[in-house]
Formats: sequence, structure tokens, C-alpha cells
Amino acid sequence: MVERVIQGSKGIKGDITVAPDKSISHRAVIFSSLARGECVVKNYLHAEDTLTTVKCMMNMGVSIRKTGSDLIVSGCGLRGLKEPDRVLECNNSGTTMRLLAGLLAGQNFFAVLNGDSSLNRRPMNRVIAPLKLMGADIRGRREGNNPPLAISGQRLKGITYHLPIASAQVKSAIILAALNAEGVSIIVEPQKSRDHSENMLLAMGATIQVEGRQIIIHPSQELSPQEFTIPGDISAAAFFLVAAAIVPGSELRISNVGVNPTRAGILEILQKMGARIKLEQQRVLGGEAIADIIISSSSLKAVNIEGEIIPRLIDELPILAVAMAAATGESVVRGAGELRVKETDRIQAICSELSKMGIMIDELEDGFIVKGKDRPFQGARVDSHGDHRIAMSLAIAGLLAEGETIIDNAEVVNISFPDFWKILDYISEN
Ligand code: S3P
Repeated sequence: MVERVIQGSKGIKGDITVAPDKSISHRAVIFSSLARGECVVKNYLHAEDTLTTVKCMMNMGVSIRKTGSDLIVSGCGLRGLKEPDRVLECNNSGTTMRLLAGLLAGQNFFAVLNGDSSLNRRPMNRVIAPLKLMGADIRGRREGNNPPLAISGQRLKGITYHLPIASAQVKSAIILAALNAEGVSIIVEPQKSRDHSENMLLAMGATIQVEGRQIIIHPSQELSPQEFTIPGDISAAAFFLVAAAIVPGSELRISNVGVNPTRAGILEILQKMGARIKLEQQRVLGGEAIADIIISSSSLKAVNIEGEIIPRLIDELPILAVAMAAATGESVVRGAGELRVKETDRIQAICSELSKMGIMIDELEDGFIVKGKDRPFQGARVDSHGDHRIAMSLAIAGLLAEGETIIDNAEVVNISFPDFWKILDYISEN
């Protein structure tokens, strides 16, 4: 158990890059494994969650080599995976488990997916229910809702499925199953969630049509090998964006960040709060929008967040709570009940920990209310709840606190952003 001590900051300054995108990294290694031939994945995220996916694919017979920060994946085709001779350990990674559930449902072998104590508590019915409609044979604890999951691959058939909640993990699981199914599948989302799977598979030659919130998937014979370059993760950049927005005297440039509109809700909200943000070098690489983001401090005002924007910033809500605490007025987040089933119950975790720092934040069933204030937060001993995004959010709150903030279980940042502490030390002036 590692603790980290954060001191108040006199300014956030520098020109940095952040960890490569976690969602795109997972997908790049899974999809490359299914291509017929060799794929290069440049700037792969070497963090616990995404290395977990690499290991699972290797345990199904895929050859994956590391050269510097790149991966070379020898894809074995849509039907070329091998039955793993051991349990596939997904550790803390929901994306690994849910995407692989979709992939394994249509294979011709048996496999078991296991998680750590956090992942084995998370709901899996949302992914198993549609897969069962396609003909999958999946069993799990608590009537299939909790891992470990035992999957006997079956011949699947296409479905039309209206997702009850916007979830890119569930959508991607169904897309992976649909590639190997008989007949066409149609997925309809209630709100648009991140669309990396659609973009990447289209680039690999899959027949996928996207019409608004509807995705039509035709079964594929083959995916063609690609070179993927992973952009910086906006969900990692989010912590430093908020740091630079709230710590007076800050100016920060974060280069090569993915700003896909299905992910960039945080930029819209920070701008609405009065943050000074500029995008430069805007370009599109491999179907993904990328930019350098320049941000400087300003006084922020309260904001309300609800509705269609929620899936476009769901992972950024804990750090946005910190921005709201530093803003004038009362901010409200609603319609974000999904936060309760992430790596931890993020509504409970962020409210209980920020309260220890003297921040006025109250839980709602599906969000929270923050009363902003213009005096500093109070340093305190706080806990990550074993959740990487809670640890990093608390660290940024510590920059604006009087006295020391001590974060327990701080090693958990290694899940998505192993260089987080190093970069924070580099950009924060004490
Ligand atoms: C992800 C989708 C989101 C997000 C998670 C990564 C993905 O989860 O919170 O961190 O890569 O597809 P849901 O699909 O549960 O919304």
C-alpha cells in the first residue's frame, strides 16, 4: 500500500503529453489479434489494464511482441484464436472482460473470464443478456450477473438490440459477437457513447454502418491488418486540465490528445464554467480527432450536467467534482447513476473523500451537488478506494488545499496512468 503526499501548488506550468488512450489501446490489441496478418500498434498504453488485455490475447495463442512503446501483433484471423488452457484473468479491467465476453461468445471453444474483487462485483448482465439473445452460452455467479464467467462458444445469430443504457463496452461486445454471427445485427443506443470500435473496425474493412445512434453490423470474413497510432487519453489529460484551470497562475499545453466528440464532453463543460481553453494543431489520425490543448487558469462558475452529454464525460465526473468545488455557486450532476458501478461506487467515493477536505458535496442517487467556495480546501488523509480515477482526482484537489493531502492506496494510478505522479511533480510549482 503506497501513500502519496500532495502539497499546495503555486502554479501548473509546462508542455506535456499524457498516457496513451486506454479505450483505444484495448481495442487495438483485440482487433489486431483478429486481423489476418501483422498489425503495428504505436504508442500502446503500457499500464495494468491494457497489459491485462495483451496477456489474455496471448493466452489465446496470439503472438504479441513489444518494441519500445509499440506492439507488433500477429493477427490470427476472426476464427483463429485457440482455446486458453487457463483462466483468462481480467484483473481490474471491465473493458477487457466485457469485450472478451462478446468475442468469446462466438468462438468454437470454452473459456473462463475472472476479475479481481472489484471487477467480480460489477454487473455483467448488461452484456450477457444481449449475447444470450444471439445464442450465447454464458454462465456466471448470481444468475450470470457476476464473474467469473464461463463461456462455451456457440454459433451466434444476428439481433436487433436497443441498449437500455449507453455503454461502449456493451456495444463493443455485441459488435465483436456480430462479426462472427449469422445475419445482420442492429444496435440502437439511447445516447451516443464512445465510437472507437466502429471507427477502428471500419478502417480494418468490416462492414459497419453508423446512422446516428444506430449501428448496423454485417458478419465479416476477414479484417485487414492496420497500423494504429494511439493518441493521448483525454480521460488522463482531464486531471491536468482541471489542475491548470483551478490553480491560479497556471498555463499548460498537453500535446496529441484524442478529442473525439464522443469523449470530449469535459472540454465543453470546462468552457461553460469559464475555463480558458484553446485547441491547436487539430487533425484526424486513423479516424480519431486529435489536438494540442492549451489551458490557463481563470475563475470558474458553477455548472449543471445531465442528459446526452453524460456518456461523453462519464469517466471525468470525479475530476469535474473538483473543478465544481473550486467554482463559485452550486453545481449539480444528475443522470449519472452509472458511476455507482465503475471500479468503485464513484458517487460515494468522491463525495466521502472530498468531504474530508472540507468541500461541501452531497450524494444524489444518480449524481451529486457541489457548493463551490472561494477559500482553499483543507489538506486531509484520503483514500483512493482502489480506484485510479478517484486517486488522481484527490491529488488534484490537494493542489488547492492548505496543508498536506495524503492519499492512501495511491499505487492504483498504475491501472491507467503509471507516469501520473512524475508528470504532476514536473508541472506543479510548490
Ligand atoms: C469504456 C466505456 C465506459 C468507460 C470505461 C471505458 C470503453 O464504460 O466508463 O472507462 O472503453 O468502452 P461503459 O461502457 O460501462 O459506459
